[in-house]
Amino acid sequence: MSLDTERPEEFSLFDPRRRVDPYPAYAALHAVGGPEARLRRTAFGPWLSPSHGVCAQVLRDPAFGRAEQPDDGRTRSFLALNPPDHTRLRRLAAKAFTPRLVEALRPRIERLADELLDRALREPEFDLVREFAHPLPVIVISELLGVPAEDRDRFAAWSQALARGIDPEFLLPPETLAVLDAARAEFDGYFRELAARRRAEPAADLLSALVAVCDEGESLSEAELTATCTLLLIAGHETTVNLIANGVLALLRHPAELAWFRAHPEAAPQVVEELLRFDPPVQLTMRTALRDAEVEGRTVAAGEQVLLLLGAANRDPAVFAEPDRLDLRRSAEAERHLAFGLGIHFCLGASLARLEGQIALAAFARRVAAPRLGDAGPVHRENLILRGPAVLPVRHG
Ligand code: HEM
Repeated sequence: MSLDTERPEEFSLFDPRRRVDPYPAYAALHAVGGPEARLRRTAFGPWLSPSHGVCAQVLRDPAFGRAEQPDDGRTRSFLALNPPDHTRLRRLAAKAFTPRLVEALRPRIERLADELLDRALREPEFDLVREFAHPLPVIVISELLGVPAEDRDRFAAWSQALARGIDPEFLLPPETLAVLDAARAEFDGYFRELAARRRAEPAADLLSALVAVCDEGESLSEAELTATCTLLLIAGHETTVNLIANGVLALLRHPAELAWFRAHPEAAPQVVEELLRFDPPVQLTMRTALRDAEVEGRTVAAGEQVLLLLGAANRDPAVFAEPDRLDLRRSAEAERHLAFGLGIHFCLGASLARLEGQIALAAFARRVAAPRLGDAGPVHRENLILRGPAVLPVRHG
């Protein structure tokens, strides 16, 4: 990657300090104005777009998809596949995420949120990530998949390694790549073993359902089964935690908005949409042109990559009035955010993530009296794509 001092706003996107606050760099991209603010070719190769319109168009356009993968014998999850394999595998997993099944989890999630807060609130200051934002979604997805409670702790490190591994490879040091390969192998071995146990003794969980499909015949191989379980576990571990933690952090920094939410707990759904817009857990995604494609009157040639800055699209002044302002009353406008992507890869877990976010943030607002940021402040993770705090000290009372 060659540094281009003429276009500093591009490179500051990848500056580690931007993990704490990437938004000034996004604002600089929008401020350039004209066609460059919608789609530009970066000095380091790929195209880049901070524009809501362009991101939405590329995500929906079948001319764009996942880059062809090297044939290294690895089975990719459907997040990384194009149709028809993507369609076949997503359809199987989608059976577990229908609105009815997700809504049925509500009482369990509410009880969990209360139990976790009961414990956390015994101390005058607690780490919101460790005590609340992390365990809540991890327990929910583990129970849904059928991962035994005693195994959960084993995943934390593997899951974090895979979450870091989603970042563009040029940002990852070699030692991270080695840890990543090891984590993949651990997950694969773990799910193979667990699948064998469920084969012998089925339970009422998603893993048992997938094992049954696998055994029926041609629609799911054993390697695809472990790749699907790993994807769901990582997606459940590493994203909703950021929705809850980024959300709490934004509320603590905007006390008037928090006070409004406290007075209007029924507004939890719209509050979550605005928080997803304001500080989304997934900051960017990538697509590759599968054939020559027209975007903004320019040709993106087959094989070329486009970086879609979802976090910047959510602050596009062409779509959102005063985009840098947190406004929990934004309602319908906020729902246009791209936090869950769009098109065929639109987040499969969106309804579950929304439900978890609504319950967790409403419980926080209702139960934590006079909350404020602890003196140590948030410490952000190194991840560029899955961005959020690793530690978030909260004081109360
Ligand atoms: C607030 C939390 C979450 C956010 C912000 C989020 C965001 C996203 C985004 C942006 C994508 C699309 C990526 C792309 O197009 O390149 C995606 C895909 C996906 N998400 Fe989520 N996600 C969240 C929670 C979850 C949960 C809880 C699950 C499941 C347990 C989940 C499962 C998935 C799956 C399986 C895909 C791949 C869909 C496909 O390729 O067809 N996500 N998510």
